[in-house]
Amino acid sequence: MTILITGGAGYIGSHTARLLTELGRDVVVLDTLERGYRDALNDIDLVVGDIADQRTVGKVCRKYRVESVIHFAAYKAVGESMTEPLRYYQNNVAASISLVESLLENEVTRIVFSSSAAVYGTPDTAPVNEDAPVRPESVYAQTKADVERFLGASDAAGLTSVCLRYFNAAGAHESGDMGEDWSATENLVPVVMKVLFGAQTSLEVFGDDYPTADGSCVRDYVHVSDLADAHVKALDYLASGGKSLICNVGTGQGTSVKQLMAMTESVTGRALPHHITGRRAGDPAAVFADPTLMRAVLGWRATRDLREIISSAYRWHERHPDGYDR
Ligand code: WQD
Repeated sequence: MTILITGGAGYIGSHTARLLTELGRDVVVLDTLERGYRDALNDIDLVVGDIADQRTVGKVCRKYRVESVIHFAAYKAVGESMTEPLRYYQNNVAASISLVESLLENEVTRIVFSSSAAVYGTPDTAPVNEDAPVRPESVYAQTKADVERFLGASDAAGLTSVCLRYFNAAGAHESGDMGEDWSATENLVPVVMKVLFGAQTSLEVFGDDYPTADGSCVRDYVHVSDLADAHVKALDYLASGGKSLICNVGTGQGTSVKQLMAMTESVTGRALPHHITGRRAGDPAAVFADPTLMRAVLGWRATRDLREIISSAYRWHERHPDGYDR
């Protein structure tokens, strides 16, 4: 029986597909390649198509005897979501509803959903646990919250789901032959790498006047390979009859921008050109996970630290300065 991975040619999806394959699981990826890369998959089965195409989804489910799904396929740029809301609702919400319809029609009833800590907006306190209020502050985050609600309601139709709320995914596969496309994101770690490899002259630090130890924002950076492992554990939990669940996926450790910069200079032995500018709208001072539920129910914990995040990202960009071939 096979695991269908939607959006599996993307950053976290491809790392998860590779881990499952290494564990001997059968995997098939469905991806439009609009933002993903075939090169990220090596010889993993890839069907180029859209999750909203119910004929294609049905054919894949039957041909590969799909038993469960990991649903990554979505647009994820916070800024873009604010200027193109319709596209985000269409691609992230409407298409997900269509996907679930196709899955249920083909008796596929287990799904792991790629959600985000962004659903919390600006949490009142940190660490953040799953009881924190869901208060999305961007269209992107709202689409993640909407799909979570839809999946929860789909229990009534026999679907069981685990929604994984990622904190800040970062890093790259230890081999150095998989990683993040820095052209597709403005997140801190890939931007730091752009500066180190000359694709950007200086890191703009968005404010150092926050009420934190060193004045810069604090986040929970979780290695992409630890995230991949979280998906495997979620699949196994559902396969063993686990009930639907929503979990935070983070290390529980807060790291400031300045701490990450210092780690970068320590790991690479290179100075990181940077300049302090004003705060970025919408940035909370401190957001990091309470990972208790993930540990208690799925038996998952992060095993890779910030040093491994930085060194693995550096290795990937050093070996593949132009990322994947399109
Ligand atoms: C981290 C910190 C910035 C860039 C976002 C999405 C969230 C999730 C993770 C998908 C902040 C600072 C950043 C830079 C900087 N994505 N920064 N200079 O905003 O915590 O979360 O990515 O699920 O949905 O909102 O991540 O990496 O953008 O920022 O100073 O050039 O780094 O101010 O404090 P964020 P980020």
